[in-house]
Amino acid sequence: MREAELPIELDRNSPNPLAAQVASQLRTAILNGLLQPEHTLPATRRLATELGISRGVVVRAFEQLSGEGFLVSNGAGGTKVAVRPDINSRPLEDRKPRSASLQADVIDLTPGRPSGSPFQDRQWRSAWKLAVAEQGKIQLPPALGVTALRVAVADHLAVSRGLAVDADDIIITGGTSDALQLIVAMLRNHTAQPRILVEDPGYPTARRVMTAAGARIQTVPVDENGLKSSQLAALKDVPDAVLVTPSHQYPLGGRMAVQERLGLLKWAEQHGVLVLEDDYDSEFRHSRMPLPAVASLPGGADVVLLGTFSKNLSPWLRCGYLVVRGDAGQQLKATREALDTPVAGILQSALAHYMQDGGLSRHVTRARREYAHRRSLLMDRLGSRPGLELSALDGGLHAVVRFTHPEAAEVAAKALALGVRVVPLSGYYADRPPENGLVLGYGAVTDLQLSKALSILAGMIGGVGEGPVARQL
Ligand SMILES: Cc1ncc(COP(=O)(O)O)c(C=O)c1O
Repeated sequence: MREAELPIELDRNSPNPLAAQVASQLRTAILNGLLQPEHTLPATRRLATELGISRGVVVRAFEQLSGEGFLVSNGAGGTKVAVRPDINSRPLEDRKPRSASLQADVIDLTPGRPSGSPFQDRQWRSAWKLAVAEQGKIQLPPALGVTALRVAVADHLAVSRGLAVDADDIIITGGTSDALQLIVAMLRNHTAQPRILVEDPGYPTARRVMTAAGARIQTVPVDENGLKSSQLAALKDVPDAVLVTPSHQYPLGGRMAVQERLGLLKWAEQHGVLVLEDDYDSEFRHSRMPLPAVASLPGGADVVLLGTFSKNLSPWLRCGYLVVRGDAGQQLKATREALDTPVAGILQSALAHYMQDGGLSRHVTRARREYAHRRSLLMDRLGSRPGLELSALDGGLHAVVRFTHPEAAEVAAKALALGVRVVPLSGYYADRPPENGLVLGYGAVTDLQLSKALSILAGMIGGVGEGPVARQL
């Protein structure tokens, strides 16, 4: 039998008598389930001493609650919380926040959530064992990142992206959001409020983070293939930096043609604009080979490539990297040295072991197969429905479905009531009227869950007789 910890606080200035205060707080603790039938209350004398009150006050409170049926006296065995069928009596350990248990039933198609499997991976566990066993790690991790991880990232980029980089060109980050803060901090050494051009629609978190870090966001309307160099040439205000998602426009899902990439680099070089290439999910190509990274193309512009482990492993890690070169690279390294790293050394070591042992590439291969399968499911279920336009399926872990009616927000609300969480496309737009549609993340759900969710959604969107809208995948 466990003795209860009692959360009692007394207000000696209150007109409410002390015995009533003790009784009321114990009653609340029992009703909330904080005190359970397996709990024994402390002896009255001890409780009185702990609370700094007379024993008689505690006895009166216990008697009151016994009379109400909340407590039972066991003689020498002490006073216990009574078993009452009307009171929730699940053990404390089993109880989760109400919101969490409710959410567990929802099929969550929020984008940005990858397959959860790496943490069950044997190699992942042994990587952590190796990291834990490393001796003599009592210093701060290096500001630019643990060498072994910088080397592993450079190797990974060479294999997965055909990008020849030196480990010295890598800065380990706490993911893209941290990388963007670092970049804004660096730009602020030159100008108090750097202007950063972003795609519209685009990644709302990037807009929010860069604004919070002190940047001013400028937007340019794009279609699924991203920025066009003609749009850049027409800009009146030249920004300090431009953030693009050339491999997989976020969220619309196309890719920037090589000619446009070269045009972007030329314009950036002419105007001294820093190019930020958000390469968030290029490992997951389903139907076409990835185009070369902007950072690998020739030209004199400064390009920073932002990589993340949030999609190919898990956002729970909060880890990513930057590939930095040239003058901007030196400045970013100096800023990172000044600010220090937010990334735990032990996480970096474990990741390095995992990558060196081939764990990441095996996980990516497995996940790619899973995603490709779910992508086919999406195409089967929604691809040929009249009135729907399905896109962004070329790669990644999400798809976009556009339709004229009903309103996407209305669909999202109704779907949630039926147990499916989806995100309207409108949230990705900044300065222009949004298109009507949904972004469907399929990384973290099972095939069965996805199938169920798609049946529910298919019943709500797309009408008969409107004809499918063809779109090049
Ligand atoms: C466009 C884009 N870039 C980057 C990321 C990764 O961000 P982070 O590394 O901060 O988790 C995401 C995650 O959803 C994303 O959608």
